[in-house]
Amino acid sequence: MTISSLAERLREAQHVVVFTGAGASAESGIPTFRDALSGLWDKFDPAHLATPEAFRADPSLSWGWYEWRRLKVIQAQPNGAHLAIAELAKHVPKLTVVTQNVDDLHERAGSQDVIHLHGSLHSPRCIDCGRAHTLPLPSDALPEGGCRIEPPRCTVCNGYVRPGVVWFGEMLPEGSWSVGLAAAERCDVFLSIGTSGIVYPAAELPLRALGQGATVVHVNPVRFDVSSQEHFLEGPASVMMQTLLHEAFSDHPVS
Ligand code: OAD
Repeated sequence: MTISSLAERLREAQHVVVFTGAGASAESGIPTFRDALSGLWDKFDPAHLATPEAFRADPSLSWGWYEWRRLKVIQAQPNGAHLAIAELAKHVPKLTVVTQNVDDLHERAGSQDVIHLHGSLHSPRCIDCGRAHTLPLPSDALPEGGCRIEPPRCTVCNGYVRPGVVWFGEMLPEGSWSVGLAAAERCDVFLSIGTSGIVYPAAELPLRALGQGATVVHVNPVRFDVSSQEHFLEGPASVMMQTLLHEAFSDHPVS
């Protein structure tokens, strides 16, 4: 599908779903999960740090990894993709952002009611009693290569404070999943941006949208196989989304 035919579909769409993965934040300087890691993390597969077992086995390694990512997010700015998505919402009757990302860059770009399927770096809680915790900003002095950090303790039960993200083997937040799924099944255009599409159940959403007749478009600089009914826009998220927005709506300013 060309950008101009997708632009045409967007102009006609009643409900657009934007589904994002780590690639949408890559141009803000947040490493994706498949990028080679450096420093302390180069010996670890992120998939193995992101489990309850990893946290219990080595809390300071796991907490250090998430604090390193949280600092990167705090220091980052939304990129052209986040901004184009927030702008797109002003041009279509309904737009739902569903993200696998645990950063807040969509919100900082102006998107509202973002559905976070994998939780957030900014909502830590006690691993034992579940009590929510507020954290001070991570120190700017964290070494670039990362370091171990002992997690804080819960003020109620003395359990470790854990990041508010969904780990492998854990359930997605019930409300987020059902709202995301309903949106995927009701939209007419589904844009899947910057995701490797290998982590389920999130990766099921494009398939659900396709099953209900939506136009499904993958945006990624690295081409991968998609079914003959799906479409692919090959390029970085910021360039593709800014181009698409311009193509679809530059003659249709927001009134
Ligand atoms: P991945 O790290 O698996 O994939 C990132 C994707 O972004 C790859 O397909 C890259 O080609 C693509 N990419 C890189 N740069 C890009 C750019 N500038 N523009 C667009 N795309 C770009 O990230 P996710 O698919 O989000 O889960 O991973 C899914 C889940 O696996 C994550 O939410 C996390 C992870 O382990 C949990 O932690 C539960």
